[in-house]
Amino acid sequence: MVTLVTGASSGIGRSLALRLAADGDPVALMARRTDLLQSLVAEIEAAGGRALAVPCDVTDREAVRGAIDTVERELGHVERLVANAGGGEPTDSVHLDATAVADTMALNLMGTVYCIEAVLPGMLHRNRGHLVAMSSLAAYRGLPGGGAYSASKAALTNLMESLRIDLKPHGIDVTVLLPGFVRTKPGGRKAKRGKPFRLELADATDRMVKAIRSRRRRYAFPWTLAAVARLATLLPAALFDRLLAGRGRQIS
Ligand SMILES: NC(=O)c1ccc[n+]([C@@H]2O[C@H](COP(=O)([O-])OP(=O)(O)OC[C@H]3O[C@@H](n4cnc5c(N)ncnc54)[C@H](OP(=O)(O)O)[C@@H]3O)[C@@H](O)[C@H]2O)c1
Repeated sequence: MVTLVTGASSGIGRSLALRLAADGDPVALMARRTDLLQSLVAEIEAAGGRALAVPCDVTDREAVRGAIDTVERELGHVERLVANAGGGEPTDSVHLDATAVADTMALNLMGTVYCIEAVLPGMLHRNRGHLVAMSSLAAYRGLPGGGAYSASKAALTNLMESLRIDLKPHGIDVTVLLPGFVRTKPGGRKAKRGKPFRLELADATDRMVKAIRSRRRRYAFPWTLAAVARLATLLPAALFDRLLAGRGRQIS
């Protein structure tokens, strides 16, 4: 199944792309760092898989269209999109910078929208396809110090939820992944305070690939932190504020 993975140059995207390719899917790899994409293509091909690097900034709508045209020409129709490219800096609420907020929305929300916009007509024409988006448990409530990130992931989650309902009659499945903390740097420190229930990359990858293959609608994990996040949505604002006050934020 021809799969486009965005944010494939590092971290979760790289790991998902490697795993999907090992399972036999031709994978198109999108991100900005061409050298990293090319070394990943070499790694996948050396293991007997098929991959294509499409260097591109997902916040550039025209560039995304062009890159996806290249994928369709070289690999075939995109049958599955894994829109993983994303990230975010802490939000300074006291010195709020609209540009920083807009940049986070551009990457985490619009970057995914541009990719979906480019692959959707083909999927609708063929009456099948699978859209996967990388949200976060940070989407459940606004977290201190992480306003822009939480807002962007909440918007992304709700958008995908709407698309899931609207596109089902057209044969298109939608999956939203909501990870907690994932350790993406192999040499990084062991789990520390402030990143509870942090998962190793290989473990998180296994879980996400399973969710993708079974076309789960929504996969929030690990269940422990997902339960805390869900519970937090039930807390009255005054209690939520008191519990979170002064806690800063660890974006994920
Ligand atoms: N790690 C966690 O704990 C965690 C938890 C929950 C959710 N997530 C989500 O998982 C996704 C991947 O995060 P990660 O932890 O693996 O981070 P990462 O290692 O920093 O990977 C981010 C990826 O996105 C790409 N990217 C960033 N800006 C881009 C742009 N403008 N255009 C194209 N590609 C762009 C980067 O590639 P280039 O720099 O080469 O463009 C990189 O491949 C993100 O959406 C993140 O919000 C992560």
